[in-house]
Amino acid sequence: MTLNSATYQTGFGNHFATEAVPGALPVGRNSPQKTPMGLYAEQLSGAAFTAPRTENRRSWLYRLRPSAQHPAYQPFDQGRVRSGPFHDAPPSPNRMRWDPLPIPTEPTDWVEGLTTYGGNGDAEAQVGVGVHLYAANRSMTDRVFYCADGELLIVPQQGDHLFVTEFGRIEASPGHIVVIPRGVRFRVECDGPIRGYVCENYGAPFRLPDLGPIGSNGLANPRDFEAPVAAFEDVSRPTECVQKYAGRLWVTTFDHSPLDVVAWHGNLAPYRWDTARFNTIGTVSFDHPDPSIFTVLTSPSDTSGTANCDFVIFPPRWMVAEDTFRPPWFHRNVMSEFMGLVTGEYDAKEGGFAPGGASLHNCMSGHGPDQASYDKAVAAELKPIKLENTLAFMFETRFPIRTTEWAQTSPTMQLDYDDVWTGFAKGDVTAKG
Ligand SMILES: [Fe+2]
Repeated sequence: MTLNSATYQTGFGNHFATEAVPGALPVGRNSPQKTPMGLYAEQLSGAAFTAPRTENRRSWLYRLRPSAQHPAYQPFDQGRVRSGPFHDAPPSPNRMRWDPLPIPTEPTDWVEGLTTYGGNGDAEAQVGVGVHLYAANRSMTDRVFYCADGELLIVPQQGDHLFVTEFGRIEASPGHIVVIPRGVRFRVECDGPIRGYVCENYGAPFRLPDLGPIGSNGLANPRDFEAPVAAFEDVSRPTECVQKYAGRLWVTTFDHSPLDVVAWHGNLAPYRWDTARFNTIGTVSFDHPDPSIFTVLTSPSDTSGTANCDFVIFPPRWMVAEDTFRPPWFHRNVMSEFMGLVTGEYDAKEGGFAPGGASLHNCMSGHGPDQASYDKAVAAELKPIKLENTLAFMFETRFPIRTTEWAQTSPTMQLDYDDVWTGFAKGDVTAKG
């Protein structure tokens, strides 16, 4: 894997135009009678043709061979990938938490190391999400992957990642996120162990949230999103193409690398974003704002303000609120919350929630600070402090997340998780103050 080899063009949802070979990109026409250099023109649509202009996403790709040039796909049983509708195990209202997904001891690439924890909705109905983690230790070799069921929002937690995609090369390390649109083929390379989280978004593509009274700046800023410039490989050896389609994995073998796009233009493209660029907004007076203030990207549903999925981060930040319980308070939520931790410690949990681990607090399940975090927060001297070396995140989704049988029976499941909320002293109505 060669790092520091990728270059980017910036902006969120911009109409980019890029060519790896000068002159490869047709000028003024998307599909001229003869494309430059005998390349094959292909439109990749991420929205219905008739979607409103603000929602419409498509790119034109100019490639060495047509995408259509491949034999039939065959079922591919990877073993741990599941999909919506989730009927793998009975739904559970219980709060759940998992230790980190172990790094495999056998040679395992990104596709082989993908493990579904749960999800909701229905991939074919284009509603809901799948939630996966991955742990791998070798590059995908002569193999690419794409997801026909949804866009993939990938949160690396360990190790340097290189995403070699149809649109170009994207490097990502812990602290970055990478979003791969539905249908885009890619390969993940690494030089050692990698681990991370994936939100497979069956619904509307992620977009930047409206900012309302915050104004025209803040949270994730459009110019910090980085799409790759065109880069292609001219490889004429057999390459497996694994796809997730209607809930199952399938595989075929191309006689060449399908990562052969010499030039492309349009507003549908993979991108990365550095969480360190998040302009965190918070209270400068009192009270704990709703975590929606930390929304990076949102996949809206048909119900206004009720997201199919929000991607929310809890980055390093100053805490200055006066007369306030500063960590997240106790709450019950109509939305369902799947959390991960990239690094450090989350301010509502003292231990137990480790980097690479995960927790799930489903619709209306009571949760909040554990006893140690609570005791510390109510006794704290409320001077300004900076939370540093921490990065937690949440996939917050409108429907309960049904966990897979693997997730419910994995040795990584913490069977004593409920205990973090035992032992709180009862309130005393006779006490003063
Ligand atoms: Fe919560």
